[in-house]
Amino acid sequence: MGAVIVVGAQWGDEGKGKIVDLYSRNADLVVRYGGGANAGHTLVVDGQQLVTHLMPAGALQPGTQLVLGHGTVIDPAVLLEEIDALDVRGLFSSQRLTISERAHLVLPHHMLVDELRDQRAGSLGTTKRGIGPAYEDKVARCGLRVGDLLNEQRFRRKLTTALDWWRPTIEALGGTPPTEAATVERYLECGKRLAPYVGDAAGIVWNALQQGRRILLEGAQGTLLDVDSGTYPFVTSSSTVSGGACSGVGIGPTCIDAVVGIAKAYTTRVGNGPFPTELDDDAGQALREAGSEFGATTGRPRRCGWLDLPALRHAVRINGLSGIALTKIDVLTGLDEIKVCTGYRFDGKVLDVPPFDDLDEVEPVYASLPGWTEPLDACRRFEDLPERVREYVHYIEQAIECPAWLVSVGPDREQTIVVHDPFM
Ligand code: GDP
Ligand code: IMO
Ligand code: MG
Repeated sequence: MGAVIVVGAQWGDEGKGKIVDLYSRNADLVVRYGGGANAGHTLVVDGQQLVTHLMPAGALQPGTQLVLGHGTVIDPAVLLEEIDALDVRGLFSSQRLTISERAHLVLPHHMLVDELRDQRAGSLGTTKRGIGPAYEDKVARCGLRVGDLLNEQRFRRKLTTALDWWRPTIEALGGTPPTEAATVERYLECGKRLAPYVGDAAGIVWNALQQGRRILLEGAQGTLLDVDSGTYPFVTSSSTVSGGACSGVGIGPTCIDAVVGIAKAYTTRVGNGPFPTELDDDAGQALREAGSEFGATTGRPRRCGWLDLPALRHAVRINGLSGIALTKIDVLTGLDEIKVCTGYRFDGKVLDVPPFDDLDEVEPVYASLPGWTEPLDACRRFEDLPERVREYVHYIEQAIECPAWLVSVGPDREQTIVVHDPFM
């Protein structure tokens, strides 16, 4: 057994954290491959809740090694807070964590630019965590990397160049650039604390593969937020899809055994951008309340709507999904009728996957399925689910041509039906 990728199949917040935590029971290494502290994963174990932004969601399984791959962007202050939170729970040791020396840093000027840009009309509605500007620096080849924190001279030199580069942009946006001295002092201090964990993450993953250890590659965000395959430009700045796992960790596609897509039984989106099945009415509000749909990173109310099968089909294809984990199906309990979008009417045709643009102009075509009234949170086997719930799951499997490997019936780790475990 080699590596299994877990990827978000919608617009993020599908419940990746819960499923990664569960799968981590059987994993030796859990590796984040992209994104940064824009992610927010809520883990619930025995009624106790932990939210992670940067730390892999496998952190609550004490036996796992945690790795942050070079595809991630690291805000050292957030990471240190999360290390401390694990430490308080008795779950942290310096041998547990490796941060890629090649991962890029998110610095104060990135967060400032993100915030200033997002105040303008037509903004993306970002998480304001500095993600876009940090990835901009990476591809512009002027970013600072985690390894730079360990060399004061190099850090100072690169920071001076970066601030010179960003100063005119910040001033044009009406902001005041952060001072170099304050940034240097704060970040070198963080660097001292992080130094024991900084290393060759790709090498560690390679060695683990050679030893036949089981590796879980943890995606953040979702397929429709991917910079290439998502609803551009209303996307994040990283490669969130399964292909991004290989480049973001530094392993080849031949090492991947399975790809699991996490999908909610309905759809949510946080931030701006097209959302064909959005329910901008009482039904949407009811889903938001039943599913507690408020962002784990920003607290923003999530936009809610019916399940979007064209979007999910796109995720099956782009990621080469082996199976899906269908989450939050319990949230649909009590509805008389459940709608699912089967296609998009656009330009005189019905499309079965999203067009490259103009998603805000498509008209969803709906099928209506009967609802159910039974609570599902105590179901632990697929056979325990009421017939109409099983029919809903089978309908989705057929429509997207991908099997449901897991059905989640509540936020707690135990509230899960595993049909097929990718590590078995
Ligand atoms: P992630 O970003 O994909 O990890 O997802 P988030 O953690 O941001 O959002 C998912 C939310 O749904 C969290 O609050 C989870 O605790 C919760 N959740 C996950 N699975 C289920 C489920 O099957 N049912 C219910 N009711 N809540 C769930
Ligand atoms: P997890 O891992 C949901 C969205 C933002 C915004 C867009 C760009 O918890 O699923 P960014 O700050 O990345 O530049 O914002 O992407 N976004 C997410 N939405 N879940 C996430 O992460 C997200 N990370 C970014 O709301 O629309
Ligand atoms: Mg989230």
